[in-house]
Amino acid sequence: MARIVIVDEVPSLLLSLLRKRGHAVYYEPGMDAERLLELAYRRGIDVLVVRSRFKVKGRVLERLASAGLKVIARHGVGLDNIDIGLAERLGVKVVNAPGASTESVAELTVFLMIAAARRAKEAMRSLEEGVWARPLGVEIYGKRLAVVGFGRIGSRVAEIAVKAFNMDVHAYDVRDLSREARRIGVTLEPSLEKAIEGSDILSLHVPLTRDTWHMIGQRELDLLNTGAIVVNTARGGIIDEEALLNALESGKLGAAALDVFEYEPPRSDVEKKLIKHPRVVATPHIGAQTREAQERVSRILADNLERALGEAKTPVDARAWRA
Ligand code: 3PG
Repeated sequence: MARIVIVDEVPSLLLSLLRKRGHAVYYEPGMDAERLLELAYRRGIDVLVVRSRFKVKGRVLERLASAGLKVIARHGVGLDNIDIGLAERLGVKVVNAPGASTESVAELTVFLMIAAARRAKEAMRSLEEGVWARPLGVEIYGKRLAVVGFGRIGSRVAEIAVKAFNMDVHAYDVRDLSREARRIGVTLEPSLEKAIEGSDILSLHVPLTRDTWHMIGQRELDLLNTGAIVVNTARGGIIDEEALLNALESGKLGAAALDVFEYEPPRSDVEKKLIKHPRVVATPHIGAQTREAQERVSRILADNLERALGEAKTPVDARAWRA
């Protein structure tokens, strides 16, 4: 029996799965760090459930650990909002739900790719404004696609691109995934530059780490074909947003499609300009925001969380804590 605090919006399924297992669940989506710490000190905390919004780092994490936190459960896949190293040093376990949203993110990636290629934003805007303008787009069929990050999502995007659109896919990953590349029929390149060079579309699927922060800047964008499209459904920090805006304004890039931003919600001037740019199709981090993905995440996370609690050293007693 554990005291679980959920600070981001999750399906009611997760709440019922956790309560069925006898845990005491406190659910307050949108909670800020100050309120969480107050709650943790006043009533104790064993498990914290977050999505990408809530940052579990630095002083907040240290104070949660001193209040007794045993497990951080990321309702999703990306762990860049959690300081894993610090959590480990403090003896706090971190679990997530890998693979649960692969299909949803891959579908959104393909949708954004086509929306950018067909200049959907300009077309829709013109209709709304009562102007019958018909922007000339391009097909994605048969084009060269660079997939950077060839894990679950990257390889699924590559597979759809090959099977449905006969695209010439060149992938790059720090791991050797040549067997998967052969299975799908993509060329695995030995470097980021080789994957990007001469591509018509670039799609990003790496996690955000110290190594991948701003891995796509002006130098990398210059390697793409003129008029190329950049799609980012991974993490905002992977692209240098200023370099992206410059490349759009200079005409080097034809379009961009962004589901993620360095700051979420976006707040920098560059991000605001990108969002308003006629050639940018933008969505508010909805990659995993489908009924199917969210429910899959909840089921996988509930199991992983249970396992982590079982491994936690101190026995948990939540009898005195009912929310
Ligand atoms: C993830 O890493 O799981 C996705 O980016 C979704 O993040 P979210 O849970 O904040 O929607």
